[in-house]
Amino acid sequence: MIPFSQPDLAGNELQQIAMALESGKLAGNGQFTALCEHWLESKLGVHRALLAHSGTGALEMAALIADIRPGDEVIMPSFTFSSTANAFVLRGASPVFVDVRPDTLNLDERLIAERLTPRTRAIVPVHYGGVSCEMDAIMALANLHGLTVIEDAAQALLATYKGVPLGTIGHLSAFSFHATKNVTSGEGGALILKTSDHALRAEIIREKGTNRSQFIRGEVDKYTWSGLGSSYVPSEILAALLWSQLNAAHQLTEQRLVRWQRYHAAFAQLEREGMLTRPNVPGHCHHNGHVYYILLDDTDIRGRLIDFLRERGICVAWHFIPLHSSPYATAQGWTCSLPVTDDISGRILRLPMFASLGDDDQARVIKDVVSFFGGILRN
Ligand SMILES: Cc1ncc(COP(=O)(O)O)c(C=O)c1O
Repeated sequence: MIPFSQPDLAGNELQQIAMALESGKLAGNGQFTALCEHWLESKLGVHRALLAHSGTGALEMAALIADIRPGDEVIMPSFTFSSTANAFVLRGASPVFVDVRPDTLNLDERLIAERLTPRTRAIVPVHYGGVSCEMDAIMALANLHGLTVIEDAAQALLATYKGVPLGTIGHLSAFSFHATKNVTSGEGGALILKTSDHALRAEIIREKGTNRSQFIRGEVDKYTWSGLGSSYVPSEILAALLWSQLNAAHQLTEQRLVRWQRYHAAFAQLEREGMLTRPNVPGHCHHNGHVYYILLDDTDIRGRLIDFLRERGICVAWHFIPLHSSPYATAQGWTCSLPVTDDISGRILRLPMFASLGDDDQARVIKDVVSFFGGILRN
């Protein structure tokens, strides 16, 4: 079987993990955590990066820092993972789902203004597949209305918008290092902070509501309960694994981009023949090859293509059952009409994508997709 996704190893993960074990310091916020955080801070050019145990945890911390409260409304796409919404719903807010653009599948910035109410507190753009949302328009709208922008950059490490790294444009941002991501520690995440006030609050939130980070830096002689918080620090073992991966981040991303371009070139003809639609990446967005998807004509053809590829040992996946029509959103009364989201979620198909996807395996995927459509053309 050709897997749909597979964690790519940098090669020296075991060595780094062994060093963490030998150090005898296994709890979080130690030397490997600091190395990863400094890497993120210098690569992204941000004030502070804090590792978290997941992208979900980073989003939850962002919701606490943004002081999201019961009754608040938070603008977000429905075409996303449950964590995007849960982080804010946990604080008592309601998600306000806005449709996505048909070209990038990202939050449609042109539809946000009409969904704002006096209760709107934040906007959460999700950069699908590492392709940026239209951040200039989103930031302008947010600044006009005094809203906090929290980038869900879970899939977007090392991608840029107009040359600016994703995860550095909003007031707060979250990355994921889940096993499916370009760079992984199995589970993991990071919160990006742009002000010292936010950074100080985030440190307290991450350390169970204590000022332990200040204690570790020698700034206070004991640590104590200082505010609301929870346990979001990853252990040093995971940070050591992530450190090894971050050092290979550019290489892993480049390898994915090569795979991405190969699919893209191979399917150009099928797109011209009207068989499928390829992803659209605006010229001012530099993506990171996180996902390669195709859009089929309808759900039925997608189902037939999935079966066809599975029979030939190729695992593919569709993506995101839209949140607005999920059982939980329905029970909460958060359903709404999102025609583009409904349409694309029924037609999207993701192809195998990981840095170590072999040339021959990728050639097989391409050949089988092309032969599926050849069959349709002949019938
Ligand atoms: C868009 C998006 N947001 C949030 C998350 C949550 O990240 P994690 O799995 O690290 O908690 C994910 C992915 O897994 C995601 O794809």
